[in-house]
Amino acid sequence: MITLTTERLILRPLTLDDAEAAFEWTSDERVTKYMIYSTHRSIETTKEWLRTVKSTDTAFEFGFVRRSDNKLIGSGGIRLHDDGYWEFGYNFRYDCWGMGYATEASKAMIDHVRKQFGDVQLKAECAAENAASAHVIEKCELVFKEYGEYKSYDGLKTFKSKKFVLQKH
Ligand SMILES: CC(C)(COP(=O)(O)OP(=O)(O)OC[C@H]1O[C@@H](n2cnc3c(N)ncnc32)[C@H](O)[C@@H]1OP(=O)(O)O)[C@@H](O)C(=O)NCCC(=O)NCCS
Repeated sequence: MITLTTERLILRPLTLDDAEAAFEWTSDERVTKYMIYSTHRSIETTKEWLRTVKSTDTAFEFGFVRRSDNKLIGSGGIRLHDDGYWEFGYNFRYDCWGMGYATEASKAMIDHVRKQFGDVQLKAECAAENAASAHVIEKCELVFKEYGEYKSYDGLKTFKSKKFVLQKH
């Protein structure tokens, strides 16, 4: 069970008890707009997700808890792909945007992987129109590589994307 601590956040494993807090953003179209999952219409869907979300030795999944009020305000993860790149992602409750939390959480996840695995290669992808996410990725020092495309799990949404990488130093 891995827990990471930053100045304002605790990154810790998610549990079923997080359903109510997580449903605040999983059910919010403003948050899910560019996400690969569909907006949750019922808290049962959030519970199903929480039952299945698990970290492994090469995939770390976290809930992001704000230290000031101990509230779960987002979630994300970082995982190793077959191409040898670690990819990270995140989403946050709408009223917590614009405060630097995504950058803080992403940097902590990257540091964690570097501590465990050394000088790793990183990648991240966001919808081309998702300027805030692109900015987070750039603040983590990744650089734009190319445009791409990704589909939502249900196959109903297709997004033009921006792909970023950070090679080994
Ligand atoms: C993307 C998301 C995680 C960003 O979280 P956040 O905590 O607000 O991010 P940060 O505050 O760390 O950084 C956002 C940066 O983008 C900038 N930004 C925000 N909106 C922007 C916009 N429309 N255009 C350009 N820059 C923008 C912010 O000013 C900030 O940069 P700064 O610190 O230099 O001022 C959040 O908006 C979110 O949860 N979105 C929905 C889920 C999602 O899209 N996840 C990513 C999927 S790839």
